[in-house]
Amino acid sequence: MPELAINGGKKAVRKKPKKSGLFDEMLKEQETLVLQLLRKRETSQSPCVKELEERWADYVGAKYCLAMNNGTATLHSAFFSVIEEPGDEIITSVHTWHLGVTPIICAGGIPIFCDIDPLSLNINPSEIEEKITSRTKAICVTHCYGHPADMDRINEIAEKHNLAVIEDASHSHGCEYKGRKTGSLGDIGCFSLQGSKLMTGGEAGLFTTNSKNYYQQAIILGHYERFSCLSSTYDRYKGNAETIPFMNAGFKYRIHPFAAAMALVELKYLDERNALQMKNCWYINNGLDRIEGFAGAYVAPYVTRLGWLNFLIRCDLGYFKEIPRARIIEALRAEGVEAASGRPGYIPLVRQNLLNDRENHPARVLWYHFLKNHPEYKIQDYPAAEKVLFERISINPLRDIEFDQEYLEQILDAFRKVSKNKKDLK
Ligand SMILES: Cc1ncc(COP(=O)(O)O)c(C=O)c1O
Repeated sequence: MPELAINGGKKAVRKKPKKSGLFDEMLKEQETLVLQLLRKRETSQSPCVKELEERWADYVGAKYCLAMNNGTATLHSAFFSVIEEPGDEIITSVHTWHLGVTPIICAGGIPIFCDIDPLSLNINPSEIEEKITSRTKAICVTHCYGHPADMDRINEIAEKHNLAVIEDASHSHGCEYKGRKTGSLGDIGCFSLQGSKLMTGGEAGLFTTNSKNYYQQAIILGHYERFSCLSSTYDRYKGNAETIPFMNAGFKYRIHPFAAAMALVELKYLDERNALQMKNCWYINNGLDRIEGFAGAYVAPYVTRLGWLNFLIRCDLGYFKEIPRARIIEALRAEGVEAASGRPGYIPLVRQNLLNDRENHPARVLWYHFLKNHPEYKIQDYPAAEKVLFERISINPLRDIEFDQEYLEQILDAFRKVSKNKKDLK
């Protein structure tokens, strides 16, 4: 086996990946559409918003879709829709983006955390039931890094206890669980379309549901311009045809038309881009399974379609013994593999100041109910979330690049070199 690049040998990855033609085509269409809106002065509201909503609802398989200015707004709307009294509880994963959880508090609720399944990195369904109380209103799941959560088990628990299910599908545009799209598997789907996501509008969000009631709640929270869509039977706050115009909850969450236009074009290309990405990723994933010390990212048998926001491959630290993971990453990077340094993915939310230093946090004024009622969160209650990422390495998710077997083999060669030459890493 040739010498490791980190010790002066030749790099394994010498080819440069070629950008896919799909991405350039998409970009041109986006430029044209956004410029058209600018020239028509459709810079605040535009018919392209409705078009995006209709197409996304149809794509996902949901009855209603409401476009918003970001994913956080969709989550705030979801929690606002299900929380009835201050102090109501939402069960969620300790391993997600903090903006998937702070909107619970902003909607008057309390987040109750579960640990994760160490393979899928999603909420561990076996922990949910023991956390349910008379105040629980919903279970929120994030399909982390693109891998769908175990929805049959989660929906079964929700049904048994009469709870809503909210999906944070911000990482999983176009991903499928048993042939159904994420965002249509629970009661409400929330998607961020922020710039780094599988489908983006720069900054935007999409809220999906089959429930007219939840759709109307979301309108009340942040879309005063749509009050004509509310039915006269809307009654959360004893609303009726006369009072509805005065019921806006005080937020403004509408999407920018430029973002909607961008997203419309992204949607057109989403399946093809996901498929090309996965062709690349599967090649690496399968190859890694044959290299000692490494394994591809886990994929549950129920997953029927994927796009990976992050490509977190597994590293067998037992095989590498006393060699620290940071050293393995360093060696891979020297070989030309685009591997992120450090811990890939989220640190458990209970470690964040936001939740463990509440009395001193600048947001304490906003969170009166949370401060009064908060549970004690203890990091030792979440061992999988605490440990599991130290066995993962985040590598370039190979999106928007042409399938090139020679390039992909060079990436695998880098792993082979590091595996075979592990003694030279000491
Ligand atoms: C899992 C998850 N939830 C929520 C959000 C918030 O979305 P946005 O940044 O569009 O407000 C993000 C964004 O990164 C996310 O990754």
